[in-house]
Amino acid sequence: MTRTPSLVPRAAAAWRVSSLGECTVPSPLGLATEKSAGIPMYTPDDARVLCDVELDTGEAIDRAHSFEKAGPRERIFFDPSKTRAGIVTAGGLCPGINNVIRSLVLHLLHKYRIAGVLGFRYGFAGLDDACGYAPIDLGLEEVCHVHARGGTMLGTSRGKREPAAMLDALVARGINCLFVIGGDGTMRGAHAIGEEAKRRGVPLAVVGVPKTIDNDVPFVDKTFGFETAVSMAKVAIDAAHTEAISALNGIGLVKLMGREAGFIAAHATLASHDVNACLVPEVPYDLEGEHGLLAFLERRMRDRGHAVVVVAEGCGRQLAEAQGGAEHRDASGNLRFAAGELDIGPHLKHAIEAHFAEKKVPITLKYIDPSYMIRGVPANAIDAVFCDELARYAAHAAMAGKTDVMIGRWHRSFTHVPLGLALSEKKRIDPGKELWLAVTETTGQPRFTP
Ligand code: F6P
Repeated sequence: MTRTPSLVPRAAAAWRVSSLGECTVPSPLGLATEKSAGIPMYTPDDARVLCDVELDTGEAIDRAHSFEKAGPRERIFFDPSKTRAGIVTAGGLCPGINNVIRSLVLHLLHKYRIAGVLGFRYGFAGLDDACGYAPIDLGLEEVCHVHARGGTMLGTSRGKREPAAMLDALVARGINCLFVIGGDGTMRGAHAIGEEAKRRGVPLAVVGVPKTIDNDVPFVDKTFGFETAVSMAKVAIDAAHTEAISALNGIGLVKLMGREAGFIAAHATLASHDVNACLVPEVPYDLEGEHGLLAFLERRMRDRGHAVVVVAEGCGRQLAEAQGGAEHRDASGNLRFAAGELDIGPHLKHAIEAHFAEKKVPITLKYIDPSYMIRGVPANAIDAVFCDELARYAAHAAMAGKTDVMIGRWHRSFTHVPLGLALSEKKRIDPGKELWLAVTETTGQPRFTP
């Protein structure tokens, strides 16, 4: 049997990282050029990380589909004394944004000794002078305590701006390296700025740091803040379980964020061990009928007297499809699943209560929606380490003149992912693969469709 390739094969050019030009400036980092005891080494520019590490019997290693390995280069593109960096954060909040900002600032100023760092306010709006949000200088004083707080010290917003206007603002302030922290919509904006700079011949390094609690950025095995969000989600599930087992026919229902992808719901389910049914947008389910969720809950009440159900908000898409849904969108055009009619949590709650009322079976249903509580918190220890790593690799990439690129992590190595490649793919739970198998094995849930 042939294994399904994890990725659609693409032209080798799609994996090639854009570079601003020859690197002629010796790096100020003072690392080793050869293996020598106790001194970390520079990363050679031709080091690669294979995309696919699983092979079928007799299958050749596919070197064409590999990422450029991230890391400090021995020679860099920018002269640090003449280099100014900008940082912008856009999209929804995520634990760890302030850690990334802090580590970027410290690494650029203390290690590379560049001339200055500016923080642009409120997402791409802060890069458009027409909006009137003045950027702020970022130094040690400004960032030293920010990692202890959730959110973003720079402010954020959703929505696009004209790439030409944003490039004008960067050029006017002498910015050579732009660090863009955000999810797929933000990476699309970063790509547009990179393309505009290329078109106008402006030597600007645009480097993305992928951010979303939903963990749905392709070519990144996990995004920062995801682990923290999963830990917070588990607290909600634990409470739902406590309520369920303490009542006669208790049902705990938890709705979790995850607009297009159910990674938070799936991982929190695995972490909890107490969930009996997990619903995610990638896997269809029926409520009614002998295979449906309601019949399953009826059996659970009969056999075990309690149940815990976790649902990802993106399951509200089927409500949106039933209603047209177009009016419930945010500034970036995403469906807003917190909006009343598309909110799958209350919808499920009412469906379950109505079903058991009709069957004349008394239940006690407790509904928990931790909502923004899972993302408006500081990063946990693992995410804090990860944020620092991403920021340092982003600084190395920009100083080496890499552009139109984001920092990825793949097979636990840090990589340079061309933004065009990242934007060509979507990361979702594959119901045929290990993660969904683990969820179904942990919960014991059947397929909720015939
Ligand atoms: O950033 C991702 C996310 O948290 C989604 O899980 C959620 O659907 C969305 O953002 C909420 O968006 P907003 O912050 O605009 O309410």
